[in-house]
Amino acid sequence: MFKTLLIPEIDRANKIISDFLRMAKPAEITTEEIKVKEFLYDNLGKFLNSKALLHNIVIEYETNPDMLHCSFQVNREELLQVFINLLQNSLQAAGSAELKIQLKAERAGNVIRFTFKDNGKGISESIIEHIFDPFFTTKEEGTGLGLSVSQKIIENYKGTMDVLSDSSGTSFIIDLPISNPENEME
Ligand SMILES: Nc1ncnc2c1ncn2[C@@H]1O[C@H](COP(=O)(O)OP(=O)(O)OP(=O)(O)O)[C@@H](O)[C@H]1O
Ligand SMILES: [Mg+2]
Repeated sequence: MFKTLLIPEIDRANKIISDFLRMAKPAEITTEEIKVKEFLYDNLGKFLNSKALLHNIVIEYETNPDMLHCSFQVNREELLQVFINLLQNSLQAAGSAELKIQLKAERAGNVIRFTFKDNGKGISESIIEHIFDPFFTTKEEGTGLGLSVSQKIIENYKGTMDVLSDSSGTSFIIDLPISNPENEME
């Protein structure tokens, strides 16, 4: 009885605390130079493919060969956490149709642009300007930290994170600076 009542609350409290710590102490997180290709295939791709099997999601990848030799300076787990948060939101926004995620990675000048699009219910115009605010949530069990923490992580890498949404779904656009812009064919 107590177990079923308490555990979700503890999980939720733990999430608030760890998200908060992540937000409060970004300077202590170490970064390394990682090839975009490696992150995309070995980390993000493997994670998404395992989730796709588990939740019956269709994932489409679109990569531009331009970006495959580029690197960025990031913390692998932290960057992966951003996409974990996005996938979580997409799963929660899925309608009756099968969830489809389209992940595009391309070079746009001196940044790598990831576009993460779902075919979920979309975000209404009246709230879209608030979704990156800490504690903004439309979910009964939500804490409203997923996107604010994610945006903070990206901004700590001198990148940007934006959203576009309509009734066909929601796209998050993440731009991250390339750390070897002249050395792209190494
Ligand atoms: N892919 C999406 N489709 C539709 N709505 C979204 C999507 N992503 C975010 N939202 C909206 O933005 C709000 C804020 O998202 P955020 O991830 O910051 O918090 P949350 O998901 O509500 O809670 P938490 O991530 O802390 O568990 C959500 O409550 C939801 O209304
Ligand atoms: Mg969320």
